[in-house]
Amino acid sequence: LKPVYILAIETSCDETSVAVVKDGCEVLSNIISSQIETHRAFGGVVPEVASRKHVEVITLVIEEALSVAAISPQDLTAVAVTQGPGLVGALLVGVVAAKSLALAWGKPLIGTHHIAGHIYANRLVKELQYPNMTLVVSGGHTELVLMEREGEFQIIGRTRDDAVGEAYDKVARALGFPYPGGPHVDRLAREAEEAFPLPRVWLEPGSYDFSLSGLKSAVLNAVNQSKMKGLEPDVAGIARGFQESVVEVLVEKAVRAVREFSAGQLLLCGGVAANKGLREALTLRCAAEGIELIIPPPVYCTDNAAMIGAAAYVKWKHEGGIPLDMVADPGFSL
Ligand code: KG4
Ligand code: ZN
Repeated sequence: LKPVYILAIETSCDETSVAVVKDGCEVLSNIISSQIETHRAFGGVVPEVASRKHVEVITLVIEEALSVAAISPQDLTAVAVTQGPGLVGALLVGVVAAKSLALAWGKPLIGTHHIAGHIYANRLVKELQYPNMTLVVSGGHTELVLMEREGEFQIIGRTRDDAVGEAYDKVARALGFPYPGGPHVDRLAREAEEAFPLPRVWLEPGSYDFSLSGLKSAVLNAVNQSKMKGLEPDVAGIARGFQESVVEVLVEKAVRAVREFSAGQLLLCGGVAANKGLREALTLRCAAEGIELIIPPPVYCTDNAAMIGAAAYVKWKHEGGIPLDMVADPGFSL
């Protein structure tokens, strides 16, 4: 079988990333230019600024990805890009770049779903078995996704309000930490002596959905009440209470979903998969239950183009390329 070399582009949010991936599992290059420093001053990602930054660096990042992979454009099989979901102006930069390259090089174009990318980041680590279950936890998404067959996604649970990463960032902000605050809350949670008591939100029995806004409000109330009494809030204790509540619900629902749908593997992905508390709790629980758990290394958990190359390979295998009049779609469905 001829090897498949895909050049993949990801610009859906605040990372400009380009990768070259062989057969959807071997990363030849994965260049990531992060805009976090630029957005930090604003306390979050500013869409218009993100688009401009992507435009500034995209060509350089493409050149770097080709050069590190030591591959020439003629040897590529196809060009892939995140078609959605994401910030429309940011997506557009990647989509226009991918179309231009596909046209100039005479290569097929593949449009990839951002979350399919996060999920297939796991195939960069290990061959997947089906059916499998993925817990997606990122800044924009919180979902339990069942894959009965390769490339077929069924969302069996999702957040009804905030995404996990978003809740982490908001809680971090209330506790006085800069954007993105998830890693700060994670660190504090592990330093705290005791957890501040906070509720667990399970929703209706049997539901695989999540809700984080109530928990977030409970944190904001705790912080405000301390301040009103003229006291310093117990920042570490609150971080630990928040993390324990989030992790307990995520782990419980993920394991229940694995059982109910007879999944052979549990995959974790998205930026919050870097969370040490979540990784530890899932690892322990899966070991105890005899569930095979795959967690990609942190660089493939946060936004990157290698994961897009992995998902694009599967799409290429089943559907081939798509016409060049494809459009960036911020509401693209899985
Ligand atoms: O997947 P990602 O890079 O971007 C999206 O597609 O959303 O996820 C970014 C999110 C941010 O909300 C960030 O705070 C969170 O992942 N995050 C963490 C940790 N590292 C990153 N949240 C909790 N604990 C962490 N260690
Ligand atoms: Zn993402």
